[in-house]
Parts: sequence; structure tokens; C-alpha cells
Amino acid sequence: MTSTELANETSVTIPSPASPYQGDIARYWDQEARPVNLRLGDVDGLYHHHYGIGDVDRAALGPADDIAYEKKLVAELHRLESAQTGVLLDQLGSIGRDDTLVDAGCGRGGSMVMAHQRFGCKTEGVTLSAKQADFANRRARELGIDEHVHARVCNMLDTPFETGRAAASWNNESSMYVDLGDLFAEHSRILGRGGRYVTITGCWNPRYGQPSKWVSQINAHFECNIHSRREYLKAMADNRLVPQAIVDLTPATLPYWELRATSSLVTGIEEAFINSYKDGSFQYLMIAADRV
Ligand SMILES: C[S@@+](CC[C@H](N)C(=O)[O-])C[C@H]1O[C@@H](n2cnc3c(N)ncnc32)[C@H](O)[C@@H]1O
Repeated sequence: MTSTELANETSVTIPSPASPYQGDIARYWDQEARPVNLRLGDVDGLYHHHYGIGDVDRAALGPADDIAYEKKLVAELHRLESAQTGVLLDQLGSIGRDDTLVDAGCGRGGSMVMAHQRFGCKTEGVTLSAKQADFANRRARELGIDEHVHARVCNMLDTPFETGRAAASWNNESSMYVDLGDLFAEHSRILGRGGRYVTITGCWNPRYGQPSKWVSQINAHFECNIHSRREYLKAMADNRLVPQAIVDLTPATLPYWELRATSSLVTGIEEAFINSYKDGSFQYLMIAADRV
């Protein structure tokens, strides 16, 4: 399937109805150039805007007073963020070369490239940021995979993709920018019956009661609106997405944050993530669901 077969139109502007808030988010990501994302991507050309999971390889880091330590630390953080994508892709099920996947909120495209490299399939991404879409498409051209990996500027609540044609779709840390009912209605529309939807996201824990001060701080920092675990499950149930696996990745992401907090790449939000994960008010969750 070609991208023009999957999509009814290609778009370089945010199709209506784009809200003023979406304009703010487009500007945010157009201007975003934090070293913690770009320097990590420079390690091997896979550019992510998400966090890492897995144990830190202390042997690979070596002694902290070594002149090469900071470079090794950057490589280690990047290994953990690519491992996060690997865990998401593990949940997509059996994907063939002729399948098309949709990355909703694709950022600079690292997850799309990894999906193509693993499955040989086509991956269509949408982002509100023209800079990110350009970056992802340039990177795909450099890798010679632009026939298979394509990003467009588009609202993920209102995509041009054909109904029922996507084999799988996901949100990798991008669902906290939208209403979950609207989001899952769109995934449910574009996925074929039996297709797989996966999200990896931070969510506030209903057991804590309400969003903690740390969660509010994270919302303000990223201009997002973190949902609760309960909201995810309800919105999925309302939209024919039935969870097949729900995995609490909080213990697996803490080592990434604790390592990042010791680096020169800190952004100031590390304490809020570490404290909220530790006090139980915030969780790093993966949900894989079947479109029924
Ligand atoms: C934290 S970044 C994650 C990027 C990418 N998924 C990754 O893992 O590297 C959030 C992304 O969500 C996108 N986004 C937020 N709201 C969106 C919307 N309504 N439609 C499309 N993309 C959206 C932003 O443009 C940005 O690319």
C-alpha cells in the first residue's frame, strides 16, 4: 500500500478543526531543540522525544571521573530510549511488509524508523510540528527509506487515513495532548478489525486520588494534560479497544531518570518525574489493545 492509498490527502498545514491549544503545541515542538533529545539522537541517527526503560549498564558507563564518561552517559540514555520503542514494537503483533502502521504524534520519527527496520512495513506519522515532520522526512531520505517512512503535519484526532486500513497504530508519549475519547475514536476508525493499538504514556494514579503537585508541574512544563489510568481504560472501552496487556513500566523507567538527573543534560523536570514515580502519584504505563 502506498501512502497515497492510505491517505486521502497529503497536508502541510494542520487541517481544521485545529484548536488554539493545538497551535500552542505546534509552536512548542517547532521551537524545541533541547540537547537531551538532539545529542541522544546524534548517537546513531534515531531521534526520539520520549524516555527510557531498562537497567543502566554500569560497566558500559565506566568511572564517572573518566574524560569519556559524559559521552558514554549520553549513549546509555539513548540506548534506554530506543529500548523503550523496542518494547512498544514488541506489542504490535505479527506485522508484514505490506502492512501500514500509524504513529500518532510521531515527533522526529525515531519510532517510525525502528518500526520499518524491524518489520519492513510502511509507517505513516502525524505531528503538529512542521519542523518535526520535515526533520523526520529528511532523516528517512538520508536512510533511503522515504518510500516507507513518512511524516505529515496533521491533527491526530482528524487524520486523512482510510478507515480500517492500518494494521497497528500507537501513541508514544503523545496522548497527553488530546481528549482520550476523541483520540481512541480516531484510532478505532483507522485500525482494521483485530488491529493492535499501543500507548506508552505517563498517567496519574487514581489510587493517589488526584494529580499530585509533581504531576501538575509536569503538565505546566510540557503544556500538556496528563490523564489518569482510569480515563485510559474507560476511553478505550468506549471505543472498541480492548486491553490485551497493561504493563506498569514505572520501575523500569526510574533508572533512566536517575541517570539523567546526574548528567549535564538536565532540564529541571527530573525531580518531578522521580518524586512522582516514587510517591505513587504518577505511573509510566504501556497499554496494548485489540481493535474489536
Ligand atoms: C513527547 S513528543 C513524542 C514524539 C514521539 N512519539 C517520540 O516518541 O519520539 C509529543 C508529540 O505529540 C505530537 N502531538 C501532540 N498533539 C498532537 C495532535 N493533536 N496531533 C498530532 N500530533 C500531536 C507533538 O507534535 C509531538 O510530536
